[in-house]
Amino acid sequence: MFTRSVAVIGAGYVGLTTGACLASLGHRVVCADRDQAKVEQLRLGQVPILEPRLPELVTEGQAAGRLRFVVDAAEAVRDAEVVYLCLPTPMGVGGVADLSAVESVLAQIRHLLPAGCVVVNKSTVPVGTAARTRDLLDRADITVVSNPEFLREGSAVHDFLHPDRIVVGSDQQDAAERVAALYARLGAPAVLTDAASAELVKYAANCFLAMKLSYVNAIAELCERLDANVRDVTEGMGYDRRIGQAFLSPGPGWGGSCLPKDVHALLQVSDGADFEFRLLRATIDTNTRQFQRIVDKIRVAVTGNRQGSLRGVRIGLFGMTFKAGTDDLRDSPALAVAALLRQAGADLAGYDPALVAGREQPELRGITVVNDPMTAADDASALVVLTEWPEFRGLDWARLAGVVARPIVVDTRNLLDPDVAGRAGFCYHGLGTRPHEATATPRPRTELAALVP
Ligand code: UDX
Repeated sequence: MFTRSVAVIGAGYVGLTTGACLASLGHRVVCADRDQAKVEQLRLGQVPILEPRLPELVTEGQAAGRLRFVVDAAEAVRDAEVVYLCLPTPMGVGGVADLSAVESVLAQIRHLLPAGCVVVNKSTVPVGTAARTRDLLDRADITVVSNPEFLREGSAVHDFLHPDRIVVGSDQQDAAERVAALYARLGAPAVLTDAASAELVKYAANCFLAMKLSYVNAIAELCERLDANVRDVTEGMGYDRRIGQAFLSPGPGWGGSCLPKDVHALLQVSDGADFEFRLLRATIDTNTRQFQRIVDKIRVAVTGNRQGSLRGVRIGLFGMTFKAGTDDLRDSPALAVAALLRQAGADLAGYDPALVAGREQPELRGITVVNDPMTAADDASALVVLTEWPEFRGLDWARLAGVVARPIVVDTRNLLDPDVAGRAGFCYHGLGTRPHEATATPRPRTELAALVP
């Protein structure tokens, strides 16, 4: 089996998934993280993030002797042929990615890297970072490669092991090939290119996804105004293979740790290149407007008009994470909507299957987090589904109807079965549909042959 010695610096979402998955492909991996407590947890097989299959891979990798965790980056890189940088690149002032973590790690390891090794940037970094990394390293014997990740939270291991493509960019083709070869067993198409193009692929892809979502949210709004049904519209669009069904579900807006950060960063890059990226600006504006649109929808559902007051109105929030299957609250659209509701004077109780009441989390300030949906619904004048947790569909809606002050549900994910909610006594409001209209119940596909008389 083809194996390499790999160091991964940073054991966050990307680093831990990369390290554990590369070990599962047979490589010898040392993962470094300066957080001593996290390293100790990982050595015991305890994974601090909610990510399916990751704990198993971490345990298996260590048991097989192919995966180690250390605190010291210097120790991790000592024998490495390939060094992955998986460090946070948060959005800094004015949307510019903050590269201070990358810079400080490079300063720490630059003299210790073995001769001839390859440094791989896996974090989403501004175009030009590979060139900057090369300057900071200032070592002619070391090549820098950009290898962006396309992992979604909640399915990161699956995405790593079943990639649509591997993108590797370097100004030295042999180094790009060396890195691409690490993934040979995955059998995915590889795009080998220069470093700047590889860096841009990540932004171009994520911003396209954000644009698709803003577009579909706008179409949903139009459906409401034109008395059309967004479910049928998006289904009809999605069969076009050039469009596809994925990322066509309207929602409260898009968020998470990547899309907002990347969209702002690309806008910044465009400004820097003297290019006015109007489409991207409109993508952001549409999303910001979407949060307010959801609040307006709740306001109309509760008060009957767009000017009605939500002051003192109790609202039960179902879901606070940025999407289902994660406990991540970063840039969650649910919290953006909650903040606007609070500004309007509403009194908020929230339930989320991934969150526990009583934990101090600054993002949740102003929301009374509770541990079960019945408590969130208690005495509420409206229930608002903000995250698409499948279990919300299976709740006992008749029991919920028994504890609310008023049976109104605003489903910003078109997740619930409107018939079930309706039979339980709720007045159901989805996105891109008429109130009460059955939209979420899957209809069998119409087979043309069955229509022949
Ligand atoms: C994203 C990219 O998909 C991934 O390739 C990249 O590496 C990191 O950023 P992630 O942030 O984990 O992944 O979330 P994703 O599943 O893409 O969802 C982003 C946002 O869009 C969420 O707020 C989600 O709820 C929303 N969304 C997604 C919709 O509103 N409708 C959809 O149909 C799909």
